This record gives sequence, C-alpha cells and structure tokens, in this order.
Amino acid sequence: MLKHICLAVTLLTAAMSLSAQDLKPIKLAPPQLNPGISLMQALKDRQSVRSFAKRPVPLEVLAQLLWAADGVNRPDSGKRTAPSAMNRREIDIYIAAADGLSLYRPQDHALQPILKQDIRALTGRQSYAAEAALNLIYVADFSRVADNTDTDDTMIFAAVQAGCISQNVSLYCVQAHLATVVRASIDKEALAKAMRLSVHQKIILAQSVGYPKE
Ligand SMILES: Cc1cc2nc3c(=O)[nH]c(=O)nc-3n(C[C@H](O)[C@H](O)[C@H](O)COP(=O)(O)O)c2cc1C
Repeated sequence: MLKHICLAVTLLTAAMSLSAQDLKPIKLAPPQLNPGISLMQALKDRQSVRSFAKRPVPLEVLAQLLWAADGVNRPDSGKRTAPSAMNRREIDIYIAAADGLSLYRPQDHALQPILKQDIRALTGRQSYAAEAALNLIYVADFSRVADNTDTDDTMIFAAVQAGCISQNVSLYCVQAHLATVVRASIDKEALAKAMRLSVHQKIILAQSVGYPKE
C-alpha cells in the first residue's frame, strides 16, 4: 500500500515538474531610467499595504521591480542596486506567482522558472499572501559564503542585505502604484520544503506585491 502511495506521489510530482521548454530562462526588459517621482516623494509615500487586487502584475513591471530590487547597476563589476557585506551577494530573490515559482538571475537580468505550482499561500501565515499577485521570497544561500558557519554575523549580514533589497522594492512600488508589505511571519519549514531548498539555503523574509484593492 505504502509503495503505491509513494509511486503516486512520485508521478504527481513529475507531472507538476517543468519540461525542458518550461525551464528556459525568460529574459527581462532592461531598466527604464527616465524620471518618475522624486526619491523624497517615494520616501514620503512608502507604507505597508496588506490588501491586494486580483489583477496580475505585468512582466514588464516585474522586470523593473527586480532590477530596482537587486539588479546589476555596474556591469563592469557585476555589483548591484543593493549593498552586500563583503560583496557576498548571498541573497536570492524567488518570485511566487499564480503561474509558479521562479528565481531572479541578476547577472543576466532573467527569470529562471523553478516550479509550476502556485505556492503563494505558503509564503506567509497571513491570508493576504495568497491573494497578492507576487510574493518575493528572500533566500540566503550560505553555500556562497566561504565560512558558512551559522555565526551571528553570517545571519546579520544576510538579514541586512534582504532588508536593503526589500526597501528598494518598497520604493519602486510607490513609483509603480503597487501595494507591498515585507513579512517575517512565514512557516519557513513548510515553505522551504515546497520550494525544494537545499540545507544551505535559509529563508530570511518574504514580501507581498500587487495592485492595491480598490
Ligand atoms: C523585518 C520585518 C518583518 C515584518 N513582518 C511582517 C509580517 O510578518 N506581517 C506583516 O503584516 N507586516 C510585517 N512587517 C511590516 C511592519 O508591520 C510595518 O512595517 C510596521 O507596522 C510599520 O508600518 P509601515 O511599514 O506602514 O510604516 C514587517 C516589517 C519588517 C521590517
């Protein structure tokens, strides 16, 4: 009996996995640097918003948001819009949307599809997470840190980097008329399992993004 259940789960997982075609990276539109609102205005209007319209966020808007979050702003060095302690760049941005989970690749400004499932509801303990068009998940990959022992500094550096990225996202959201809230209330174990993270990857924060409910 147990054997049959295991087989059924394996087949179901395989059916939900991505084909080679599905796994093709999606190249994102380059950043548009034309003036929007002033930085001071964005700071004045930044706030947490926790109710979201069902409307999806277009890929062109996501492209701008991800570049603002942690895109490469100095191609010569590959350095990013967000600072990172010792330039470790250990935070990855995963994007949970209705059509699945993907990973932002700053180095070529592309989206790497990871899963087909809609795991938005698992990205937060609060019900609005399931409704927001996008939930960004900030994941530290400590395999990229030479001394990857779980020291206080290792965690602090990762958390600060995630915080810097989240503030970039929040300010971009003001400019793009998007609602957002950064969140720590996450069942990290369940989410890490759904995302199939490795033992070296730790979820630091999540951030819901979408159009505000009218
Ligand atoms: C590290 C961190 C974790 C947070 N976690 C949550 C959360 O789990 N759920 C939530 O609704 N808001 C969360 N927030 C948002 C705060 O509640 C919010 O920033 C605070 O109430 C101030 O409101 P404001 O952002 O509108 O200024 C978090 C903020 C930070 C910085």
